[in-house]
Amino acid sequence: MRKIAIVGFKGGIGKTTTCVNLGAALALRGHKVLLIDTDTQANLAVALGIKKVDKTLSDVLARRITAEECIIPARKNLDLIPSDINLFKAQQRMVLEMAREEIFDELLSGLTGYDYQILDCAPSVTLLTINALSYVDEVFIPVSMEMLALTSVQQFIDYLKEIHTSLGKGAEIRLIIPTMYDPRRKISAKVLKLLQKLGPRVADPIWVDTKLSEAPGKGKTIFEYAARSRGAVGYAKLTELVATMPPLAKNSKHPVKI
Ligand SMILES: Nc1ncnc2c1ncn2[C@@H]1O[C@H](COP(=O)(O)OP(=O)(O)OP(=O)(O)O)[C@@H](O)[C@H]1O
Ligand SMILES: [Mg+2]
Repeated sequence: MRKIAIVGFKGGIGKTTTCVNLGAALALRGHKVLLIDTDTQANLAVALGIKKVDKTLSDVLARRITAEECIIPARKNLDLIPSDINLFKAQQRMVLEMAREEIFDELLSGLTGYDYQILDCAPSVTLLTINALSYVDEVFIPVSMEMLALTSVQQFIDYLKEIHTSLGKGAEIRLIIPTMYDPRRKISAKVLKLLQKLGPRVADPIWVDTKLSEAPGKGKTIFEYAARSRGAVGYAKLTELVATMPPLAKNSKHPVKI
């Protein structure tokens, strides 16, 4: 099983869009996928068209239910552990716990039977994000084509090194995913070129596509909403890359390799 966090410390760079559509495309290829929403914005359920959410990750963190008990089947091969605004309070309580950076390890590690677990993260350094980084083995960083987004990637890479040092383990940054690439804007080519210099592998860019911004409002993945769109083609290509990456060695936590 591969455990991947989609992280970045800048808002609106395509983390949730990547989580939904990468997860959906892996599920369409026959992989068993679990998406876990660790962001209080709780966007994953909405993006997947799930209107009624009773139990969420907040209940799991409060030890009211097990992680298995709040899984919602979202599509064939695609399950979801949703979030809600109460995650904010849950996080405040987590601060007081022992081994507070490893609560996900404790509460989510019983989730078996999946080929992929993909965690959507908030755009900031929170205890939830730190838990996500401790829990997963792989990190994917979406980056929109702006200079400020590029700066925040560099900051994030440095931060992950710090986490690795303090926790004695850390996930590996395996992929930078350029998003909202617009070939008409010079800045897109410039940022893409600079991303190549950061170290981690850079995927082919996901182009800017209004279909990608419309799909979540309809509760659909891009493959359901506009299967022939540029966005769908981009995410299918990204999924091919992800699915064919060699898996990391079993049962080992990898240092940040950059
Ligand atoms: N390639 C794209 N082309 C056009 N619009 C996009 C693209 N990717 C994402 N969007 C839109 O941009 C907005 C931000 O994307 P998304 O919610 O995925 O970002 P995020 O990083 O998860 O944001 P947050 O930090 O708030 O969680 C959304 O409205 C989304 O539909
Ligand atoms: Mg998001």
